[in-house]
Amino acid sequence: MSTIDYSQKIPNNVNLADDRRLQRALENWQPAYLDWWNQMGPAESSELEVYLRTAVAVDAEGWAQFGMVKMPEYRWGIFLADAEQDRRVNFGIHKGEAAWQEVPGEYRAELRRLIVTQGDTEPASVEQQRVLGQTCPSLYDLRSLFQVNVEEGRHLWAMVYLLHAHFGRDGREEAEELLMRHAGDADKPRILEAFNVPTVDWLSFFMFTYFQDRDGKYQLSALSESGFDPLSRTCRFMLTEEAHHMFVGETGVGRIIQRSAELSAQHDTLDISSHGGVPLPVIQKYINFHFSICLDLFGQEHSTNAANFYSMGLKGRFGETKIDDDHVLDGATFQLPELDGDKVVWNDQPALTAINERLRNDYREDSLRGVERWNKAIAAAGVDFKITLPHTAFHRNIGTFRDVIASPEGKVIGREEWDKNVGAWLPNDDDKAHIQSLMVPVVEPGKMAGWIAPPARGIHGQDVDFEYVKFH
Ligand SMILES: [Fe+2]
Ligand SMILES: [Fe+2]
Repeated sequence: MSTIDYSQKIPNNVNLADDRRLQRALENWQPAYLDWWNQMGPAESSELEVYLRTAVAVDAEGWAQFGMVKMPEYRWGIFLADAEQDRRVNFGIHKGEAAWQEVPGEYRAELRRLIVTQGDTEPASVEQQRVLGQTCPSLYDLRSLFQVNVEEGRHLWAMVYLLHAHFGRDGREEAEELLMRHAGDADKPRILEAFNVPTVDWLSFFMFTYFQDRDGKYQLSALSESGFDPLSRTCRFMLTEEAHHMFVGETGVGRIIQRSAELSAQHDTLDISSHGGVPLPVIQKYINFHFSICLDLFGQEHSTNAANFYSMGLKGRFGETKIDDDHVLDGATFQLPELDGDKVVWNDQPALTAINERLRNDYREDSLRGVERWNKAIAAAGVDFKITLPHTAFHRNIGTFRDVIASPEGKVIGREEWDKNVGAWLPNDDDKAHIQSLMVPVVEPGKMAGWIAPPARGIHGQDVDFEYVKFH
């Protein structure tokens, strides 16, 4: 029953053919989407044949099929995870009621906003990564970039389906707007700040897929708890695709660190720029940047919006049903960071308005796991260097620490001290120029750029030197 119908113009497992009006609306949106892909998607890529996976069924065993595909011919479609029998609203004031198959009228505006905000990030990342293909460190990595890009395109489809199916004319207008805002556009930017910064080099791309895509995982997980069942099912399937994006990020950053550690050991110095590597302290600066802008994506520490979304049953906590509490947060508390003079302290606050902070904490914990693995690789190479995640107060633009200047360790400092040190904490012009100088395309099968170690294995049982992208 979860098999996807590929005989349709829009592959789907939602019996789209039974709803002619919806089918027609989405078929009308499809050419606009393809126009967007051709104009804003991966540059000069339409003739390339790429070893891509495509969903053919949504169950765990059967959903991925691999083959050489030209990206404009990728079968973007609508795939929902199977319905859970007798699913309930699992939290908030409606806890215990049957999950909603239609949008509850009183929550229409809130749900629309959640879906649009999530949907906006998907095409944004494709736009941000648009020119990276021209400087790929290997065919293997080029294929990873394109796989991530087509799946972010599909995530847009996932959200647009909800808008078309459940929000009438407003939904159709929002779906059009999703193709009209563009990352970094002066007049019509993407909604969230971190999705307007162009991804100009591959170190940033791997940081993006490690940190920004992981934010995606946490947002989608919280939305997959939603009492609005179609949203839950859409997000559950998106999460299976998202896992691969984070794999690309963790192994990508890991392979750069591996190579940097080897070069550092070989030359007995961390300063390996002249040996064609990325110095570990520079990698730390990129981590400081990406992690801090991603913390902002979780929103204010105190948030009545987040509390409302929770109480309404629209957006839950990470792993909501596995948490052992009342799922309404009656009288519950949660520790929030606050400024006490020039110190950051943690105090108990109502858990209901601290939903964002809780998700941010879950995200930090998850982000740390990869960092620990990277540190093991550095230690194994015999190099004395440790990667860390910056303090929550560092380089923040939203919430409690917005107007606070803090060091990566969380020490509150003055402007002067910041100015003196910022070049050592965040990528400076020299760092960026060095990374840019390393961005020379490598497109011979099996060859790797000198600043990144080869992957441990190829994709789907293929060798690392398989021709993952064909240029003719
Ligand atoms: Fe996504
Ligand atoms: Fe993603």
